Amino acid sequence: MVIRTEKLCKFYGTEENQIRALDEVSIKVQKGEFIALIGKSGSGKSTLLNMMGGLDNPTAGKIYIGDVEISGMNAEALTKMRRSKIGFIFQNYNLIPVLNVYENIVLPVQLDGKKPDEAYIESILKTLELSSKKTSLPASLSGGQQQRVAIARALANKPEIVLADEPTGNLDAAMGNEVIAMLKQMNEKYNQTIIIVTHDQEIAEQMGRTIRIVDGRAL
Ligand SMILES: Nc1ncnc2c1ncn2[C@@H]1O[C@H](COP(=O)(O)OP(=O)(O)O)[C@@H](O)[C@H]1O
Ligand SMILES: [Mg+2]
Repeated sequence: MVIRTEKLCKFYGTEENQIRALDEVSIKVQKGEFIALIGKSGSGKSTLLNMMGGLDNPTAGKIYIGDVEISGMNAEALTKMRRSKIGFIFQNYNLIPVLNVYENIVLPVQLDGKKPDEAYIESILKTLELSSKKTSLPASLSGGQQQRVAIARALANKPEIVLADEPTGNLDAAMGNEVIAMLKQMNEKYNQTIIIVTHDQEIAEQMGRTIRIVDGRAL
């Protein structure tokens, strides 16, 4: 088991205004699974993904990464866990504006105190058609290019777990398919566990398993 949640809850607001973004979600993810997280806008997909990545604290319930309970960990311990185990692809990219493409991509590796595997980084850049953009700043890139940089950054550390929030939302269909194919390849080659939030039924069908979120509950 690589990820497990136990009656995970996230509530916003109080009493009559309370929003139950996650309502007792219990899921189990095995090592090497390739999972699509689907559901309507506002159903709780991003909240669940953020929680599994240790980016947000639950109101109640538990989250385990491997055998380690991360719910209740302090910020420092969570950051350490994230750096060593998780590649996160954010919906809004979160690129660092003063760093160029290459520097953005290798930053998580460096923060984890490691040396980037240059041949591997080159191969990711090539697949994502970013080789010629290595020294460009994020602001000079299109939305799709920025999204691809965010994907490369998440993969740079060869993390055990990749969590991706609508990673193909700003890409055309051909590039979107390339990205999914690349993630699938990574999943097979490195036995990475990959969870992707997607609206795209075609993408979801290519994945090993689908978890549907409805009103904060996992079906
Ligand atoms: N910081 C927040 N404060 C209040 N409500 C929030 C916050 N973040 C998310 N929500 C609410 O929680 C629910 C789930 O949101 P989210 O996980 O972003 O859904 P999805 O990613 O499926 O579109 C929504 O009703 C959303 O408005
Ligand atoms: Mg979302």
